[in-house]
Amino acid sequence: MEKRKIVTLPGDGIGVIVLEQAIRVLDAAGFNAEYVYGDIGWEFWRKEGNPLPERTLELLKKHRIALFGAITSKPNEEAKAELDPSLQGKGLVYSSPIVGLRQHFNLDICVRPCKSYKGNPLNFIRRGRGNTIEEPQVDAVIFRQNTECLYSGVEWTNPPENVYQALMSHPKFKENFGAVPVADLSVSTRIFTRKATQRILTAAFEYAKNNGYKSVTVCEKPNVIRETSGLMWKMAKDMQKNQYPGIKLVNTNIDAQMMWLTKNPEEYGVIVAGNMFGDIVSDGFAGLIGGLGFACSAQFSEEGIAVFEPTHGSAPKYAGFKVPIVNPVAMIESACMMLDYLGEKKICNSIRKAIADVILEGKVRTYDMMKMQGKPEVVENGAASTIQMADAIIAKLR
Ligand code: NAI
Ligand code: MG
Repeated sequence: MEKRKIVTLPGDGIGVIVLEQAIRVLDAAGFNAEYVYGDIGWEFWRKEGNPLPERTLELLKKHRIALFGAITSKPNEEAKAELDPSLQGKGLVYSSPIVGLRQHFNLDICVRPCKSYKGNPLNFIRRGRGNTIEEPQVDAVIFRQNTECLYSGVEWTNPPENVYQALMSHPKFKENFGAVPVADLSVSTRIFTRKATQRILTAAFEYAKNNGYKSVTVCEKPNVIRETSGLMWKMAKDMQKNQYPGIKLVNTNIDAQMMWLTKNPEEYGVIVAGNMFGDIVSDGFAGLIGGLGFACSAQFSEEGIAVFEPTHGSAPKYAGFKVPIVNPVAMIESACMMLDYLGEKKICNSIRKAIADVILEGKVRTYDMMKMQGKPEVVENGAASTIQMADAIIAKLR
């Protein structure tokens, strides 16, 4: 097996902790790689005024694949106050390095699989007929457009004159907002492009086709948001008809989808959405399979850059514990997505099977799986530490 080079971006807080454990698991499973560490996060904001230094971008440009932990972001004023004194007053403005990475490399495709493990006490259960309790097996994979929509940052409070005039040229704006003083207007634009929409839809359909999913669900709101959601829905219909006739195409509205989450989550396979609704629906599904300790993700660019990361943040509350308690599964699952991407099927399956075995057996559970409050004493009270969880997974590898 060729030796891979993987950039590791631990970042802050528990990002550092879970990434270290994921690498232990990868090593134990026989993944042959050299890890090249990259600077990212709060420390580099404080010391250098840039949480995503140029050298880190260069590293990722060169090696193309990264495992990312999590970073800490703080509001602007707090960020300024924590800058090294030598950097104060220079007009430096903090911006999230994750958003920075996404924009710099145009990581436009975000994939968030949500699959329930048998035996996970955090799995969603519902009441069935005759007061029975049902535990639906959730297996949804959310494809979220990662760079456009309401997250593109094209927004104004008190918009400049030319923007205001452009808005006023729309009859609905004029009718409904024409009398509002311009200083009282906040506008965030929801932008979809044909190219990015095409790419996320193609990724979703291809994934469904290659992994045996029977349906692709577009989760937007085309009946109301006619232009952007409408574009995605129309393109999906054409694509299904011309290229993927064997895959069923479903249209759900984001609001109804959130209600159906608790009704029939097992009926969804591949789901595709714009940035905002993709963020919402993926968090919704993640909640059904155990929450942040289980929610993994991957981001891809057209140029072949791939970043694999848990959905959770740096959880600073838990970062300083002498014995770390957070669940490393989301990070390890993200590493499995990397193995999938690299075609390392055997190692990937062995890790996934080991995680499944540990969860099914139920002897080793982190605090979240025991529904405890995250305090240092959870370990004394029977919860596994982060390291014990990783140990248990390693012990099950075959
Ligand atoms: P968070 O995801 O860090 O933590 C929220 C809560 O979720 C934690 O208090 C904990 O109860 C639970 N949790 C998170 N990860 C867990 C794990 N692996 N195992 C068990 N429980 C887990 O989100 P929060 O507290 O809103 O943000 C903390 C910092 O992280 C902020 O500075 C925020 O900006 C940043 N953040 C970074 C993200 C990233 O790096 N991708 C994503 C979200 C937040
Ligand atoms: Mg989110």
